[in-house]
Amino acid sequence: MSRENWGSRLGFMLAAMGSAVGLGNIWRFSFVAGNNGGGAFLILYLLCVLLIGIPLLLSEVSIGRKAQSDVVGSFKKLAPGTPWFLTGFFGVLSAFLILGFYSVVAGWAIYYFIQYVTGSFAAQPEAGYGGAFGEFISNSWYPLFWTALFMGLTIFIVVSGVKKGIESANKIFMPLLAIILIVLAFYSISFDGAAEGLRFLFSPDWSAFSDPSIYIAALGQAFFSLSIGMGAMLTYGSYLSKEHKLPGATLGIGIMDTFFAVVSGLVIFPAVFAFGIDPASGPPLVFITLPTIFEQIPLGGIVGVVFFFALILAALSSSVSILEVPTAYFMRVFNWSRRFTTILMGSIMFVLGIVVSLGFGIWAGVTPIGERNILDSMDYVASYIFLPLGGLAMILFVGWYFTKQQALEATDFTGSAVGNVWYFIVRYFAPIGIILVCLNSLGII
Ligand code: PFF
Repeated sequence: MSRENWGSRLGFMLAAMGSAVGLGNIWRFSFVAGNNGGGAFLILYLLCVLLIGIPLLLSEVSIGRKAQSDVVGSFKKLAPGTPWFLTGFFGVLSAFLILGFYSVVAGWAIYYFIQYVTGSFAAQPEAGYGGAFGEFISNSWYPLFWTALFMGLTIFIVVSGVKKGIESANKIFMPLLAIILIVLAFYSISFDGAAEGLRFLFSPDWSAFSDPSIYIAALGQAFFSLSIGMGAMLTYGSYLSKEHKLPGATLGIGIMDTFFAVVSGLVIFPAVFAFGIDPASGPPLVFITLPTIFEQIPLGGIVGVVFFFALILAALSSSVSILEVPTAYFMRVFNWSRRFTTILMGSIMFVLGIVVSLGFGIWAGVTPIGERNILDSMDYVASYIFLPLGGLAMILFVGWYFTKQQALEATDFTGSAVGNVWYFIVRYFAPIGIILVCLNSLGII
């Protein structure tokens, strides 16, 4: 059977942007920035995206395109007889961990969407938006219905295949979300007291840099948001043929992803300060802030419907890229059909989702890592350990396993001056940067 391919370079770019832009930009970015002091975090995050994230994104896509195989198969093909393929196993494992909790949060978004459609969130519920959210997620079974629905939609798109399902869905999702977010940012900035939020986001508190956890938080967020270190971008790159040029495409994806994160910061933080919400509220942050904004603005009920619809679509275009990683791998290894493999992988992830969801209900006292509940613990392992290590392996592969000539050729950089800068980053700067940040987070340096 011949491998599938994107219809065009634009199709690939939109799908990769769809993968990058998702709950990570809106939900995760705002609570991680809120927990880590805002401005100082933003600076480190932008540095991580520019100096490590985008060069790694290019490397990761180029591995997939060169090998034309899944995340394990690519390393087996390009480096036969070596242990590099273990990087791929890490990636497959990360995919299960990430979609396990991602589908739960996306399920919350579907629930909110329905609340806006039926009008029940148009006015503040009796317990307040924070109280209503807490009540909803701590119910043991109800949220699972929405998680299952989200997983079902993800499976449906992935079963439809690369071009028909993933590519065409993204062409509509992205522009719609961008427009809504920009309009909301203008609203948020116009609230009384919004200036405090802008200060929080843009004028760093320098003392925050002395907290070691901020560095890994910034690196982990950059990796999560750009979908790198797991093999999603590698797998998408494998559906790309040789005639499409990579550097411009990956830079575009990185810029777009960062744009969405900064704009959602502009939506969330002015409102957080204007309405006296705690910026360090953790994962529930956007689910409390956004309804509070929508309640204050004209036609907020309708804005709520459209916003959560776009958020669900953004989450879907990311979740399909996560599910595609193990699907592509198992399909090849066991020669299973796309349909069967997707349903099986999606079902296993849903079971993990059940565990995550119960972590807010009957298992609320279960804290696998430190004080963290089940969702935070899975996110911690995936974003702060697996993605950075997976990314490190990939960047070392391109910087050190490939010859310079192979690396430049794989990324369409042959004979380019920028290519030399990129190569320096990939060979020295980024790996050292990732290692230092990881050692720092372990308290070793
Ligand atoms: N980048 C996605 C987001 O920001 O929501 C999440 C994600 C997708 C993470 C794919 C990792 C991944 F491999």
